[in-house]
Amino acid sequence: AAIMKGKFDTFMQKEIYEQPESVVNTMRGRVNFDDNRITLGGLRAYLPIMRRCRRMVFIACGTSYHSCLATRAIFEELTEIPVSVELTSDFLDRKTPIFRDDVVVFLSQSGETVDTILALRYCLEHGALSVGVVNTLLVRHCRVRPTVVFTSTLALKSVLLPPRRNQIIAGLHALPGQIKKVLELDASLQQLAATVSENKSLLLMGRGYQYATCLEGALKIKEISYMHSEGILAGEFKHGPLALVDENMPVIIIMTQDSLYPKVQSAFAQITARKAQPIVICNEGDEGIPAGVKTVDCLQGLLNIIPLQILSYHLAVKNGCDVDFPRNLAKSVTVE
Ligand code: AGP
Repeated sequence: AAIMKGKFDTFMQKEIYEQPESVVNTMRGRVNFDDNRITLGGLRAYLPIMRRCRRMVFIACGTSYHSCLATRAIFEELTEIPVSVELTSDFLDRKTPIFRDDVVVFLSQSGETVDTILALRYCLEHGALSVGVVNTLLVRHCRVRPTVVFTSTLALKSVLLPPRRNQIIAGLHALPGQIKKVLELDASLQQLAATVSENKSLLLMGRGYQYATCLEGALKIKEISYMHSEGILAGEFKHGPLALVDENMPVIIIMTQDSLYPKVQSAFAQITARKAQPIVICNEGDEGIPAGVKTVDCLQGLLNIIPLQILSYHLAVKNGCDVDFPRNLAKSVTVE
């Protein structure tokens, strides 16, 4: 194990630092930067059905669920097809109506999460086209109609309008280098972890594309440092969570520049008015705020999650937690 970890102390740290390469590996053979094209061999035959569908339903648990939330807006923008996002267990509990003209997308990093496999079977029985976004084959779990399998959420973004497509592909091209730049924030995030580790809770706030980033950051902090953390949609802040804020509550607020920036600024003003000390994640050059890196709106979460991963790592180390084996958690949830 020591050899596999290389120069890193933990597998988690290794995974965080290997993200520039893992992004390249995910795009290899799919994104062609020479002619600005995305090719998804496995999906091509199904695209006509997908274009005609009445709605898309994304289904997943945990971090994979957050990936669904993070990509919903770009799907809706580009396809003009309504997308609903479901937590697998709740989707099953509700016996959610599913129809033959639905397209259902299952996200599962492991391909082993039992609830997600059950939901897949349920949707196949209801005749919906079922698409798996996995790192391993889901096909063995079903006998009805083979699922289409591929390995990254980026993948589905193939049917794009040219100007937006070119913008996103340029963003993808720049991504590995930008991730490397964000990783340079490690030392300051270690200092930040030291200043907030004694607090009883850590709130994370954002909106639009960054809501999913906040939920995922909070999950990571809970999962490996056991500190309470909550991701809050900035638009919901005044409807209750604002009552939690006082001068002792650290609030991380994601303020990278996109069309919702002015609205997040107003949430920022509400926090400072309560004398809380906001911790801001923003773009390089934003006045008075520590530097980050800017990309296309729909890809920004891929950069913004990195400081939160690193922060959760340092919080966990500070609290003496084993980041590679969080207590009470299995690697994959294979029982109901
Ligand atoms: C584990 O680190 C994740 N935090 C966990 O929530 C995971 O995403 C969830 O259990 C779903 O797993 P899957 O993607 O393998 O289906």
